[in-house]
Amino acid sequence: MDDKVRIIEIPKIKDHRGNLSFITNMNPIPFKINNVFYIYDIPGGSERGGHAHKKLQQLLIPLSGSFDVVLKDLTTEKTMNLNRPDKGLYIGPLIWREMKNFSSGSVCLVIASLEYDETDYLRDYNEFIEYKLKP
Ligand code: TYD
Repeated sequence: MDDKVRIIEIPKIKDHRGNLSFITNMNPIPFKINNVFYIYDIPGGSERGGHAHKKLQQLLIPLSGSFDVVLKDLTTEKTMNLNRPDKGLYIGPLIWREMKNFSSGSVCLVIASLEYDETDYLRDYNEFIEYKLKP
């Protein structure tokens, strides 16, 4: 899973007035940006995700607060806690993800390689496994 899931350091301009971070096409992400969305006003106890993508690559950034991302491959599973706006989680194609334990007021920015396309989703875990095992 390690080549498909990793923390990416986002460039940071430190300033006594506050920090500034930036992302451009291919820097520090390995893809061109085609969609940007954010998850916010998340009620306590909410869980999101629960799917994988056939082709989509994403960078998840906890702009505010923190949350856990559970990542599953065929044989491995790991949980990453995201809590710094200058550290994003890159998730490549065909990785199952679940997001939970959102802190109060948390905001997750997602930068994605493709526009939203429901046919790119694998929303059923068994279908995900079968898709990965397909020759
Ligand atoms: P989904 O990707 O399932 O959210 P999460 O992984 O955070 O749980 O998307 C939730 C809904 O939003 C789904 O109906 C598709 C829709 N959506 C769009 O209309 N445009 C978008 O760019 C995205 C990412 C989702």
